[in-house]
Amino acid sequence: MRAFIAIQLPEDVRNIISNIQDELKQTQSDVKWVKPENIHLTLKFLGEIEQDLINKINSILKGITQKSSSFNLCLSSLGAFPKLQYARVIWIGLTNDKRVSEIANDLEKEMLKIGLPSESRPFSSHITLGRVRSGLNRKALVEKLEFLNKNLSFPSTEFKVSSITLFKSTLTPQGPIYEVIFDCPLSSNNTLSSQR
Ligand code: 2AM
Repeated sequence: MRAFIAIQLPEDVRNIISNIQDELKQTQSDVKWVKPENIHLTLKFLGEIEQDLINKINSILKGITQKSSSFNLCLSSLGAFPKLQYARVIWIGLTNDKRVSEIANDLEKEMLKIGLPSESRPFSSHITLGRVRSGLNRKALVEKLEFLNKNLSFPSTEFKVSSITLFKSTLTPQGPIYEVIFDCPLSSNNTLSSQR
């Protein structure tokens, strides 16, 4: 099973991101846009895993979520990997994402213990909007990204992260299908999180 661990986003936040995608689509650049219902914040991509690892992953996620309380995030500016001018992956960043990095780094360590390989790059929190397929109209795309960063504000995009989810990903010619395997709620006990 192909799987990954992620933070689900509320529908209103996915709608805001979908509106930004619509603005970027006007450039008619060659981008495979993430479907609004599939937009998420990846914490750890697991790749192909054996069914018998699922219980172990469940225990790890429970351990991490029980010692960490829910927290708020807010959308920040648009960016691209490897860099804006050579945009290959278009994303939107997050403010106050320290907790996200902490959880992602904890996951990285715990997954290594059960034999899943570490990422070669350090974790950088982002929500992927699309993946550039070719250089067609790339200049217009980059200019639009820069324009939106100067002119967009993200009113009321603060949202609460209250769980962490293991997803199954099935690749199809129409794009990936994501299914929730389990969703682990973060602790609502703030005392625990302030001890971290
Ligand atoms: P990203 O879009 O946030 O970079 C599910 O496929 C998620 O796993 C993707 O959204 C992607 O996160 C992440 N991922 C990381 N490495 C991947 C890989 N080699 N193949 C597919 N997805 C990967």
